Formats: sequence, structure tokens, C-alpha cells
Amino acid sequence: MEYFAVIERRQSIRSFRAKEVEAEKLQAILQCAQAAPSAGNLQAYRILVVKNPEGKRALRRAALDQEFIDQAPVVLVFFQDQPRSASKYGGRGSGLYSIQDATIACAYAQLAAAALGLSSCWVGAFHPEPVARLANGPAGLVPIALLPIGYAAEKPERTGRRPSGEVLAWESF
Ligand SMILES: Cc1cc2nc3c(=O)[nH]c(=O)nc-3n(C[C@H](O)[C@H](O)[C@H](O)COP(=O)(O)O)c2cc1C
Repeated sequence: MEYFAVIERRQSIRSFRAKEVEAEKLQAILQCAQAAPSAGNLQAYRILVVKNPEGKRALRRAALDQEFIDQAPVVLVFFQDQPRSASKYGGRGSGLYSIQDATIACAYAQLAAAALGLSSCWVGAFHPEPVARLANGPAGLVPIALLPIGYAAEKPERTGRRPSGEVLAWESF
């Protein structure tokens, strides 16, 4: 799908069909996530792929019981890797770059899913501790986003955007 069409196609979907996400598509999504730019090319993030029902239920519980989370066939959990970025960039790495690295990777994954005819919803409302426990990873891995992915079972109205005049500023020299 052409880039601008992908941007247009993506919208948050909060109801998924039972149809599985094909392994090749999941692989392509993860590859796109890894193609994202990152500070110093440190790729200071981790991605946990959750497909088993128990894991997805735990994510749903941690995320204020948003029910579409365990309805999706697959949920990606994005973590910032604070120590990895801090090793080169100190506080700016742990406090900013690793968040940005993980965020960009998640955005790439979301657009890749859209390009493949899949849908998703970025989830930021969750309690980080239980999600971090689920990952069972080293200290310093902080979950920053959940991305449930699947085939849409709804076609919601498009959300609007603020007028560009409110968001953009054109500096005149
Ligand atoms: C940082 C962030 C956190 C979000 N958290 C949630 C969430 O917890 N639950 C949810 O249903 N949607 C969540 N969303 C999705 C937004 O509600 C959605 O992107 C926004 O309303 C614009 O709609 P659109 O994605 O369809 O363009 C989140 C999006 C972002 C970027």
C-alpha cells in the first residue's frame, strides 16, 4: 500500500475478529518496528509478543480492563530499555531517548499493520508494574505502549484533528 494511503487507512480499532494474524504478517510488522530510527542506533527498546490467552488477559487486567486487548489475536508490548540508552546518554537516554526509541518502533509497527490490512489500537492506559512483571525481563525495562493487532470487526467514524493553525507555527524570518 502506498505510504499516504497507509496513513489514511490507519485508525484505532477496538473490536477484532477471531481470525489469526498470519505468521508472515507478524514477522513483517516486527521487522518494520526494528527498522525504526533510534538514538545512536542503540535500539533501546524491547518488544514482547503476547499471543497466549492467559498473557493477554493479564494485559487486559493491567490496562483498566479494556476488553479489546484480549480479543485481539496478538498484542505487542513495547518497553523502553533505560539502562541501554543511559549507558551512552546518561539521564537524557533513560529519561527521553529510550522512550522515543520505543515509541517510534511502536508507530512503525502500527503503520506496518495498517499496510497489511490489519488494524490496531495504541494503548497507553495501563499499570506499568504488572506489565513489567509479565515481561520478566531485566531491571530498567519500562512498558510504554501496548499494541493489540488483528482484523477489524468494526468500522468506526474517523476521529477529527485540531485545526492546523492551532498546531503549526510558521516562523517568518
Ligand atoms: C499515547 C497514546 C495512548 C493511548 N491510549 C489509549 C488507550 O489506553 N485506550 C484506547 O482505547 N485508545 C488509546 N489511544 C488511542 C487514541 O484514543 C486515538 O489514537 C485517538 O483518539 C485518535 O484516533 P485514531 O487513532 O482513530 O486516529 C492512545 C493513543 C496514544 C497515542
